[in-house]
Amino acid sequence: MDTPMIELTDVTKTFGTTRALDGVNLTVPRGTVLGLLGHNGAGKTTVVGILSTLSLPTSGRARVGGLDVVREPEAVRRRIGLTGQYASVDETLTGYANLVLIARLLGAGRAQAAARADELLELFSLTDAARRVAKDYSGGMRRRLDLAASLVGHPDVIFLDEPTTGLDPTARRALWDVVQRLVRDGTTVLLTTQYLDEADVLADAITVLAAGRVIASGTARELKDRVGRRSVSVTVRGADDREQATAALRRAGLAPALEGDGLVLTMPVMDSTAVARVVRATDEAGVDLAGLTFSEPSLDDVYMALNHSTGH
Ligand SMILES: Nc1ncnc2c1ncn2[C@@H]1O[C@H](COP(=O)(O)OP(=O)(O)O)[C@@H](O)[C@H]1O
Ligand SMILES: [Mg+2]
Repeated sequence: MDTPMIELTDVTKTFGTTRALDGVNLTVPRGTVLGLLGHNGAGKTTVVGILSTLSLPTSGRARVGGLDVVREPEAVRRRIGLTGQYASVDETLTGYANLVLIARLLGAGRAQAAARADELLELFSLTDAARRVAKDYSGGMRRRLDLAASLVGHPDVIFLDEPTTGLDPTARRALWDVVQRLVRDGTTVLLTTQYLDEADVLADAITVLAAGRVIASGTARELKDRVGRRSVSVTVRGADDREQATAALRRAGLAPALEGDGLVLTMPVMDSTAVARVVRATDEAGVDLAGLTFSEPSLDDVYMALNHSTGH
């Protein structure tokens, strides 16, 4: 089997009496995106700090590309790109000058550094802003420049620590596009986020962190399945129809329950194929429905359910 690009084994990290991480295990296969999901204080940045060799685990092992972050920090640093709370962009320099500087620091020649800067500015749609100083960039442009800076050295793996926190929806989407392009090119990504929709859109797998512990992991689909609250709701036009529909749905093996203003019947279902059964049963009973919706649990429901189950 391929060596995982990122691997944490029983990692614990304490700050004084605070247990920031408590026996965390996670694996990120090469070329995939792991969404590390959790509220403030869950331990996300601590994970990124350890993987990027900025802090040491108290116990356990962390590897990047098979390299131990404690024993081989230099080799790890050469493989990673880092952004988010550690961005190294100089506000007084232009976007172009920042990227050239980083490329030169990483050992590129003058022409090579200029070419890499141009290439990244193009990739991040910053070519028009290339000659403006970074402090004049908008929030979204600044995040893209941070990300570009982390990619100068062609890292195999990048850590994005809450890359879209505080961005407006348009800027978030622009950043998502860039992340998706990187992944298509084979980069492995560990992305921390408090946004459930972001993890759903970008991540192949999601690990949910709460108070330093992994409380769930799987694909967005698996997490939704675990909550398992798919349902169909039908809206009827009056009390008579409601009684007819209720009886017909029960005969069809469904369990409708009354909801809302008294004209909405909701029933748990296994999957969307149940919609046809609901339509057939009500149709045969002569009920003309005013509305019908099929709902899946949102990732938010998943997080709530898991958090409640751990007492948070
Ligand atoms: N340098 C530090 N010193 C003391 N406590 C810290 C330090 N860094 C993080 N913590 C604590 O560790 C926990 C996890 O923090 P963090 O990893 O920053 O969470 P997140 O990034 O998910 O918001 C929090 O309780 C935080 O207060
Ligand atoms: Mg954080």
